[in-house]
Amino acid sequence: MQMLLRAENITKRLEDEAIPVTLVKNANVEINAGEYVAIKGPSGSGKSSLLYLLGLLDRPSAGKIFYNDQDISALSSNKLAKLRLEQMGFVFQFHFLLPEFTALENVMIPMRKLEKLSDSDIKKQAKERLTELGLEDHVHKLPSQLSGGQRQRVAIARALANNPKLILADEPTGNLDTQSSETVQDILQNLVKTHGCSVVVVTHDTEFAQRCDRIITIVDGEIV
Ligand SMILES: Nc1ncnc2c1ncn2[C@@H]1O[C@H](COP(=O)(O)OP(=O)(O)OP(=O)(O)O)[C@@H](O)[C@H]1O
Ligand SMILES: [Mg+2]
Repeated sequence: MQMLLRAENITKRLEDEAIPVTLVKNANVEINAGEYVAIKGPSGSGKSSLLYLLGLLDRPSAGKIFYNDQDISALSSNKLAKLRLEQMGFVFQFHFLLPEFTALENVMIPMRKLEKLSDSDIKKQAKERLTELGLEDHVHKLPSQLSGGQRQRVAIARALANNPKLILADEPTGNLDTQSSETVQDILQNLVKTHGCSVVVVTHDTEFAQRCDRIITIVDGEIV
């Protein structure tokens, strides 16, 4: 299997605090293409910190991260932002949709930033994404006019906007009712099949984690 991302002995320390804290300690993680991986652990164990490192949203204090065999430590923040925009999609516990934009416009934003498609193609592709997630009747609604589960599906559509190779999700069902949570879990599991992308999901939910190909457990910042 082809390796997509490899974190080698990464540590994240916050040095500026009165008492320095270690959020992630000597973690080794490999994510293969098409793999569905869960990160599990108690509250405060460092799951989000690890996910942010893997998603190149944060830089490790020590250790290296390779994306497609490229060492990304040397990349500038601009280059990292471009890599994320082209290759990665993020879903969080709270949807972070822009409230003044419709579902469709929210999904179009990352495509516009990428500047690879014409505006009409962007609109077409954004509609396809939303339709794929069962939201074809809601494209012109504002986030405030959608249910929590629908908003989270829009957020997933937005994460998929630029055909990412990797989706990173931090407690994507943490704020949802059981039914919507099931739907979101089904969608994430299917992405591996339908989009061929790898999915890394942080969750407290044991049943959710067990649906993944592999579970990474983290306790006190260390993978166990
Ligand atoms: N900016 C910060 N300053 C100080 N401590 C921090 C900071 N960010 C995180 N921490 C601490 O680092 C630890 C790991 O945090 P992190 O958010 O990664 O945990 P988590 O496993 O995602 O927790 P949860 O399940 O509650 O979301 C926690 O003890 C947290 O309090
Ligand atoms: Mg967290």
